[in-house]
Amino acid sequence: MARFFLLLVGVLIACVAGARAGSEILAEDVNPIRQVVDGLHALETSVLKIVGNSRRAFSFARFAHRYRKSYEDAEEIQRRFGIFSENLRMIRSHNKKGLSYTMGVNEFTDMTWEEFRKHMLGAAQNCSATTKGNHKLTDVALPESKDWRETDIVSPVKNQGHCGSCWTFSTTGALEAAYAQAFGKGISLSEQQLVDCAGAFNNFGCNGGLPSQAYEYIKFNGGLDTEDAYPYTAKNGECKYSSENVGVRVLDSVNITMGAEDELKHAVAFARPVSVAFEVVSGFRAYKSGVYTSTTCGNSPMDVNHAVLAVGYGVENGVPYWLIKNSWGADWGDSGYFKMEMGKNMCGVSTCASYPVVA
Ligand SMILES: *[C@@H]1O[C@H](CO)[C@@H](O)[C@H](O)[C@H]1NC(C)=O
Ligand SMILES: *[C@@H]1O[C@H](CO)[C@@H](O)[C@H](O)[C@H]1NC(C)=O
Repeated sequence: MARFFLLLVGVLIACVAGARAGSEILAEDVNPIRQVVDGLHALETSVLKIVGNSRRAFSFARFAHRYRKSYEDAEEIQRRFGIFSENLRMIRSHNKKGLSYTMGVNEFTDMTWEEFRKHMLGAAQNCSATTKGNHKLTDVALPESKDWRETDIVSPVKNQGHCGSCWTFSTTGALEAAYAQAFGKGISLSEQQLVDCAGAFNNFGCNGGLPSQAYEYIKFNGGLDTEDAYPYTAKNGECKYSSENVGVRVLDSVNITMGAEDELKHAVAFARPVSVAFEVVSGFRAYKSGVYTSTTCGNSPMDVNHAVLAVGYGVENGVPYWLIKNSWGADWGDSGYFKMEMGKNMCGVSTCASYPVVA
């Protein structure tokens, strides 16, 4: 019992949730038969009818179609068009500066940062349980670059949807890689079991959690079910874990000392992909390619609000970076991935890192 009380010391990463699912049929639109026959065109036409025929209006209409947006009424379409235009200006002005990373239009481009934060970022976070790490450094020289995708152990990018469950995707991503590394075959593991069942280890389902605590839960629980056996719903639910459907067991987990980027680099180079967390600030959601860097994000344990998976590192145009797998779908960023500047604990990327040992 004492174990449970200890684990209740407050640590929480509430996440940035991803995709907004929805039908693209506009409520006020025309003849339903025509929509079936010519639905895509109908959406674009009805958007253009409301926001005009400018080139920007056309971009917006295409955007709404591409991301299957569903808007309430003409008023919302006008408002979303305004926000989209604003974000497009921001993206273009950023890209003109020729910095280390580019921005692009994605499914978040019709949202304000305030909305994004309010709907997708959770409450306060505190990730300080990894103050003392247990990863062991060696004297072996590190390779200049590393990309675990080249060894085929990194599973495909997933999408957390509208649920602050990033920590579960960071956890399954690390475990799927660890499993492939250990057993020479791929596996897809259940995020939903972690959402529904890992509460006693100071995790909060769609309201956040921490990969290191998820590893502790799986170790204690005896295993994590496969994705097929326990599929993702993006909602908090009742625990339906079944020991018969276990895909992987966790023998142990290793924490990186808070802020020790050299330890993190050593672990990514020689062990396997590592769960990391960082602070998402405005602008990050528009990331498209290159090495992300920010002067506004923080790196304390109270700042980090998104958990992801470091699968490598390298140097691009003289800037060292972490190669990181996100959980906002393969359409976001650089095929679902991004690069984060390395060497400054940028946005807290080494503040809250851990990796599992599987069996
Ligand atoms: C964060 O958690 C640690 C213990 O895990 C605690 O000592 C610290 O006071 C907490 N910080 C805040 C700001 O809650
Ligand atoms: C790693 O951190 C977690 C909490 O985040 C903790 O429960 C666990 O005991 C730590 N592991 C080690 C080996 O220190």
